[in-house]
Amino acid sequence: MPDTVKPVNDWTPTSWRGLPAEQQPEWPDEHALEQSLKALSTLPPLVFAGEARALRKSLAEVAAGQAFLLQAGDCAESFYDFTADSIRDKLKVILQMAVVLTYGAGTPVVKVGRIAGQFAKPRTTPYEDVAGEQIPAFRGHMVNDDAPTLDARRPDPARLIAAYHQSASTLNLLRAFTKGGFADLSQVHMWNQQFVASSREGERYEAIAAEIDRALRFMTACGIDLGSEESLRQVDFYTSHEALVLGYEEALTRRDSITGGWYDTSAHLLWCGERTRQLDGAHLHFLSGLNNPVAAKVGPGATPEDLVALCDILDPAREPGRLTLISRMGSQRAEHLLPPLQRAVRDSGHPVVWTCDPMHGNTFVSEGGRKTRHFDDVLSEISGFFTACRATGTWPGGVHVELTGDSVTECLGGAEEIVEDDLELRYTTTCDPRLNGRQSLDLAFRVAELLRAG
Ligand code: TRP
Ligand code: MN
Repeated sequence: MPDTVKPVNDWTPTSWRGLPAEQQPEWPDEHALEQSLKALSTLPPLVFAGEARALRKSLAEVAAGQAFLLQAGDCAESFYDFTADSIRDKLKVILQMAVVLTYGAGTPVVKVGRIAGQFAKPRTTPYEDVAGEQIPAFRGHMVNDDAPTLDARRPDPARLIAAYHQSASTLNLLRAFTKGGFADLSQVHMWNQQFVASSREGERYEAIAAEIDRALRFMTACGIDLGSEESLRQVDFYTSHEALVLGYEEALTRRDSITGGWYDTSAHLLWCGERTRQLDGAHLHFLSGLNNPVAAKVGPGATPEDLVALCDILDPAREPGRLTLISRMGSQRAEHLLPPLQRAVRDSGHPVVWTCDPMHGNTFVSEGGRKTRHFDDVLSEISGFFTACRATGTWPGGVHVELTGDSVTECLGGAEEIVEDDLELRYTTTCDPRLNGRQSLDLAFRVAELLRAG
């Protein structure tokens, strides 16, 4: 461990404050910030430590090559897109993808949403030029508003509390849906949304759904009481977000009464972004003391030495399920850049999960000025990731994608062949472009094929 990093036994939820913290908002009113953080620290936890331990156990199965991680959701959740329908539709598409992967590849799927807390964004430039005026960049609804005015962009600590409450309601509905019958495998047809069902991907999905129906009827005919089989009726669905605004994460970090360990109760899994993973920085230090499973994004600039040092900080005990590395290299680079990194991590003895974020290395700006990604680049990064994993004998542990259940036109290509002119039709993201329902389902079929080919 580099000597600039404090050993974990000096760790407390506040010890990150002594280290440089990138990407923190410049709150204009210190006193108001303190009031918000104080209020947050008295509010109930959003998740229970035992759930975070259960996820860690499931991720240990992924690390051992016996399960696959599907992590998906919005780039940034929005205070304006907060309805039962939008939460339900996002869950539907994730359940559909999980069915395709579980059935198509015969591998258990660990389901983790970028949801119920994904409200903060790192930015490349702290200011944005709007009609000649320099205004603060949008940093996610936990911090400021996306409208391009000076007033809207002023960081407001009341938003920390609002983000907490929206997370609580979102999680409440997700728990109801996933445990209360909505995710029952007998409902497999119902998750196919109207605009998807009539498409080629939708029909392909219907074929799997029909086979699942047959299998369920077969089991019933054999005398199995499906109503009493909890595993057919429910799914374990976990939450995750980037641990970016450290004051917020600190306020929700609590000691577990059962084990005495510290857990960040804002989500089951927290990750550290590509821009905040400095070895001597506050973010890695903060994550190092948590007992939640944690993850880190790994971009094209990572060196084997850096990455092993990061693993030493986040996973000193070399525990399976503790650490997930999310590769985001870009479509042309994954195949070549990953093998030396994967070999170095393996040789260092860290039993990590390797997963592929095929979105963030493939963003570009269209001629019309829209941030977009091409579906072909997304697929080719996934395929490069699988090739690299095969070359190094690493289990391709999962995918990490930005999607929505809506029929948006934010990413180019896919079976609908969305072109640049279409981006104006339904471009509603507050941050990065997301795959729509059809593109997401299509992606799940391709990934299932790649898994089967192995
Ligand atoms: N509980 C199992 C699982 O999560 C089976 C299951 C029930 C399921 N409902 C589902 C799988 C919906 C995928 C989607 O794998
Ligand atoms: Mn994003």
